[in-house]
Amino acid sequence: MKHKRQLVFVCSGSDCKKSGGKEIRKDLKEALKTAPLKGNFKLIQTKCLDMCKSAPLVIFEDHFFKKASSEEVIQKVKKALKIQGPN
Ligand code: FES
Repeated sequence: MKHKRQLVFVCSGSDCKKSGGKEIRKDLKEALKTAPLKGNFKLIQTKCLDMCKSAPLVIFEDHFFKKASSEEVIQKVKKALKIQGPN
């Protein structure tokens, strides 16, 4: 049986870190560790994605969250899980 995990990319470049990326990564890490998200997603830290004016930047499902907030990203991740169902 193949276990498929969706990827959530969080920029950890200096501008994104300064603009709240560090907190977003921490919040996401915590949210992805708990049910029902646990095991269905993988958090990936990236280097600067060259979109610093939109910092903090998160990418999930081909969607760029510019000036992202933890709440909107977590909400989108939860919605994606509901649509696809847990693996
Ligand atoms: S630091 Fe995140 S896009 Fe440049």
